[in-house]
Amino acid sequence: MNFKEILAKIDPQKIPVHVAIIMDGNGRWAKKKKLKRINGHKKGVEAVRKIVEASREVGVKYLTVYAFSTENWKRSKLEVNYLVKLIIDSLLNEIDSLIENGVNIRFIGSRKNLTSSYSKKVEDTCRKSWHNDKLFLQVAMNYGGRKEILDSVNQILIKMKNGEIETAEITEKMISENLYSTGTPDPDLFIRTSGEQRISNFLLWQSAYSEFWFTDTLWPDFTKEEYLKAILEFQNRNRRFGGR
Ligand code: IPE
Ligand code: IPE
Ligand code: MG
Repeated sequence: MNFKEILAKIDPQKIPVHVAIIMDGNGRWAKKKKLKRINGHKKGVEAVRKIVEASREVGVKYLTVYAFSTENWKRSKLEVNYLVKLIIDSLLNEIDSLIENGVNIRFIGSRKNLTSSYSKKVEDTCRKSWHNDKLFLQVAMNYGGRKEILDSVNQILIKMKNGEIETAEITEKMISENLYSTGTPDPDLFIRTSGEQRISNFLLWQSAYSEFWFTDTLWPDFTKEEYLKAILEFQNRNRRFGGR
């Protein structure tokens, strides 16, 4: 089935509001093609572009993609340096077209280990898109779910000390509101490519009731059609949120 044919099968009333994706398998894609791992990452950026486009076309409102985890620093210096540069270069290359397409982009993650000039460049570039509201794109860069929860709790403690929050008890709402992803609804659909079936420290707090969808496809090979297929399957899930 082509894109239009699958799109016709999708119920416009039941589009997942927020889709989160662990874009995995770049290294294995490159290995299969006898290329260097970095070529897999480069190719992976093209897949991101297509999935952003498809999200706009189908009407997904929030898209969060996992670009670099707090654990990915364990990789070789060469690969880490390449990835960190690739992520900012892609942002700079794509920003104009993202803005034109109504995308509001922001990076979520820890600033630790990133230089302040890097963070500033990201922020200054993203800011240019913040008037947009067609699609909210979150790029998880130097992101870890545990770190995000810890940072949230520490934020709350600081606010308590400053007297900004007057309470003796931390609530779920307070934790949610102090996450990097503040203001974003929890993901409805959680996709991971490459055949791995684990969460790898992505959106731990937010995915409490997400629907998980896995595919063996390696990220650089992931297509708009397969993305729609995931949404179609999501529409047939029976979400209960603990009720009956
Ligand atoms: C995902 O691809 C991209 C990042 C983690 C940055 P990988 O680089 O993890 O690819 P595999 O899992 O080794 O194939
Ligand atoms: C998760 O993939 C991180 C990103 C996609 C950015 P990894 O490849 O790092 O995860 P593990 O090591 O297989 O769990
Ligand atoms: Mg991987």
